[in-house]
Amino acid sequence: MPHVVTGRCVDCRYTYCVVECPVSCFWEGAKPRMLVIDPGTCIDCEACVPACPINAIWPDHELPPEYADWTAKNADLFAAGKNVTEGQDPLDSAKLIEEIQAEEKAKGWNIKEPSKAS
Ligand code: F3S
Repeated sequence: MPHVVTGRCVDCRYTYCVVECPVSCFWEGAKPRMLVIDPGTCIDCEACVPACPINAIWPDHELPPEYADWTAKNADLFAAGKNVTEGQDPLDSAKLIEEIQAEEKAKGWNIKEPSKAS
């Protein structure tokens, strides 16, 4: 039951998750601009969840229905990406969690934040 990076990460890519990951399971592709998790390497340690300032990562058993398709997307996208093992500057387009939550509310979504979020 791996952890899953969701669409919240797209165009943000803070990479604080990478710094906490003990098994280097984060991968970056060109499109969309984000990181994803290799589900075969993730050990479910949960260290990445509170590290993300926009709560973009959930354990798959807590994944909100609105982000359910990201389990398959992580599995697909990581294979074409490059392994990222060091933190980088966030993208210029990175948003605050309040902005993301407002966008989700505008879509009628009522997202429950990850239980291990900081
Ligand atoms: Fe993305 Fe959050 Fe990591 S924005 S790159 S999941 S710290």
